[in-house]
Amino acid sequence: MIDLHCHILPGVDDGARSLEDSLAMAQKAVSEGIGHILVTPHHMNGKFLNKKEDVIKATESLQIELDNRGIDLTLYPGQEIRINGDLIQDIENHNILFVDDEERYVLIEFPTLSIPHYTEALFFQLGQKGITPIIVHPERNQEIIDNPDILLPYIERGALAQLTASSYVGVFGKEIEELSAQLIEANLVHILASDAHNINGRGFHMKEAYAKLEKNFGSEISDYFSSNTKKIFNGDFLHSNPPTEVNHKRKKSRKFSNFMNKLVKRNEIGS
Ligand SMILES: [Fe+2]
Repeated sequence: MIDLHCHILPGVDDGARSLEDSLAMAQKAVSEGIGHILVTPHHMNGKFLNKKEDVIKATESLQIELDNRGIDLTLYPGQEIRINGDLIQDIENHNILFVDDEERYVLIEFPTLSIPHYTEALFFQLGQKGITPIIVHPERNQEIIDNPDILLPYIERGALAQLTASSYVGVFGKEIEELSAQLIEANLVHILASDAHNINGRGFHMKEAYAKLEKNFGSEISDYFSSNTKKIFNGDFLHSNPPTEVNHKRKKSRKFSNFMNKLVKRNEIGS
């Protein structure tokens, strides 16, 4: 299995804090059947910079540590790029790490609460350069949680999206778990990745997520996710299933449950 989103590098962001943490994560990854990891520390998220050359060096160092211990895992340098207005310039200056050697795919993170107004223009500019943005964990963005269909126009215009395995298996709660299933059903997400930060609260959950995907959507969809991941990793083009709006009946029931939760909370405060 290939994991295209992982904070396994030690001491560079809010992922692994030490070499010991990284090794524990590596062992866990191998135990889940992961053989290749794109190492993706936060880049330009307001707190962490993680320049291209630093990530390459740190990835090489960690690979040596893994090899010395006989841990059968291959690392590749990458970045989880917080969307920002300098991205095109940074790409032109060769300051950005792509997912693939062909430089066709980049991992783009939205801020937690919103989708910036310039996103559409930026994605258009990327498209003109033959670069496909992959929106990481859309299911954790508040604007998308409030209105999942806001994602649709970006996907229709060629962006891809990465669902986080732990979201789908319920680590971030029922609402994000249900939204994850809705996004899969509507073809609004294309790959699964771990976004693992450690081996406890924010672990890999890849094996579990793939098993759930196969159980709930069939092997055709789990094979589609896994083959999409390989194609992206290799810089190949992929033909994605046509996206749709999320199922409105389910959307309504979700909104209703939110409403009920608020009522319950209000009653708790009142009592
Ligand atoms: Fe991440």
